[in-house]
Amino acid sequence: MDDKRFTERYESYRRATEVYLDGLFRDDEARIPWHDLYESMRYSLLSGGKRIRPVLTLECARVCGIRDWRLALPFACALELVHTYSLIHDDLPCMDDDALRRGKPTNHMVYGETMATLAGDALQPEAYLLIADAPKLTKTAKLNAVASLAWASGANGMVAGQVLDLIGYGRDRETLTTLCDKKTCFMIKAAAELGCWAANAAREQTLALASGYAARLGLAFQIQDDLLDVTGDEATFGKPIGSDREEGKTTFADLLGADGCRAEVRRLTDEAVAALDGVGDTEFLIELAQRLAERKK
Ligand code: IPE
Ligand code: IPE
Ligand code: MG
Ligand code: MG
Ligand code: MG
Repeated sequence: MDDKRFTERYESYRRATEVYLDGLFRDDEARIPWHDLYESMRYSLLSGGKRIRPVLTLECARVCGIRDWRLALPFACALELVHTYSLIHDDLPCMDDDALRRGKPTNHMVYGETMATLAGDALQPEAYLLIADAPKLTKTAKLNAVASLAWASGANGMVAGQVLDLIGYGRDRETLTTLCDKKTCFMIKAAAELGCWAANAAREQTLALASGYAARLGLAFQIQDDLLDVTGDEATFGKPIGSDREEGKTTFADLLGADGCRAEVRRLTDEAVAALDGVGDTEFLIELAQRLAERKK
């Protein structure tokens, strides 16, 4: 897919996501006594992430034949709410203790640890409200979306991954892959699934897009993240460089080295693309995978 068409589509998804998120938790006149909570939630929601998960949801919905991809926006943004909560909590002093995210001070640096914790808490149930209230999507689609998001982010998913990260479970390739699978891939896979559910896609298509493509994309994404934590440029990456080492974490950068990480990202990207065989209209997803393999932020 050429650069112009890819960028145009990515930007329409990204803009629609931003507009949708900007409509949430507004209290412009500061009338609500818990106004600081809204402000803290909006600070992280609107601080300019790449939005790759909502983009994935919206594109999967389109590929699976939804009438209008905008109908999937509540699902896409629900997942982004949970992702945002995970980042706010991930940066807390009791976790990675990071001061910079998306090129800005982390939530707790601005609003304090208590409010940052509460902002993360509030984002989770609010995500499920977005799904429940999504106009024009079927009850089955909503139930499937709730189950996928809860599974991906819950006690056997992302939070389990964060626990494994915290206890230093990832000592070799196998254990680190299990950890990253839960910490990162589950949510990226769920992003694809939510798009499929929104479009009431067939099982085969959902499996290819989520378990085939997105799960591999997710692992490549975390390996690239580990690599950029060592070799990245802080201004571009928007996060502190060397944070993993400072925290004493073993990452793919330690286990594979920089060249090994690059080779593994390439291998997984090729596998992700190969998993799309038999699904039609996948030019954008192929281009997305290629670009993420080269990303610097
Ligand atoms: C960061 O995710 C957390 C990881 C799983 C590595 P992103 O790199 O997608 O973060 P934003 O949303 O673009 O800031
Ligand atoms: C984060 O992994 C995964 C989640 C937030 C669930 P990292 O700790 O590597 O993410 P960054 O590098 O802080 O974004
Ligand atoms: Mg972390
Ligand atoms: Mg972190
Ligand atoms: Mg990281």
